[in-house]
Amino acid sequence: MLRLLLLLTTPFLPFTHPTQVIMHSITREKPSFPASYELFSSAFKQPDPPLVKAEFKCNWQQHAWSSSFSRISSGYLYHSPTHSKVRVDATYDSSIVSSLFDYTNTSRDNLVWNTLYTIEPSVSATPKIWTGFVKPAWALFKEDILVKSNAVFAGVVDDRWLGAAASWKTVYENSGPVTVYLDSSGTFVGYDFYDVTTRTGIVNRFFNIELGKIDKRVFDFPKKE
Ligand SMILES: *[C@@H]1O[C@H](CO)[C@@H](O)[C@H](O)[C@H]1NC(C)=O
Repeated sequence: MLRLLLLLTTPFLPFTHPTQVIMHSITREKPSFPASYELFSSAFKQPDPPLVKAEFKCNWQQHAWSSSFSRISSGYLYHSPTHSKVRVDATYDSSIVSSLFDYTNTSRDNLVWNTLYTIEPSVSATPKIWTGFVKPAWALFKEDILVKSNAVFAGVVDDRWLGAAASWKTVYENSGPVTVYLDSSGTFVGYDFYDVTTRTGIVNRFFNIELGKIDKRVFDFPKKE
């Protein structure tokens, strides 16, 4: 309402399509959630787990921690169930990093092939390339993740970073509980994950999401010498 008032009183805006201006800046074409999604509502009925819009690129923010570390990072993400790959670009404290998780190449114990490209401690440093199997810090969520894992609906939450989001609880690859957040268009907008073996918590939030098939060149990394 405040924003509406501001829009209406700003003298500089060309005023030919005021409703479009408001739609674009506030709602991003997201319908509201149905009353049946509301916990403690007599209209509540657990929805069937939906397919997730999981092929996208976006900006991300992550907080990962355990009893021995706490790391807050941000960057750009390419999340592609089609290519079975996740590329995560990050910058923090004089490091520029690009990390590729290749889910087409996994080991018998479910580790994932990772290529880590790092420039540090200065931009003039020679890039380092590391490859190996890792327990991936970045999951690949297929579009049927909630259906296949028979996820439990956990209500519409007022997430402090995302605003209203539908939350779903499931267990990721038997390694720990995950809460997946979807906006009202079914787009995957973040998740909270708790790894029970390493006792690590990860909170990921996605912003500026662009849905759609990702160009495979995005996943071209230099080969290790
Ligand atoms: C897949 O993993 C193996 C290690 O088992 C590695 O040598 C190989 O380069 C990887 N393949 C690709 C395409 O990255």
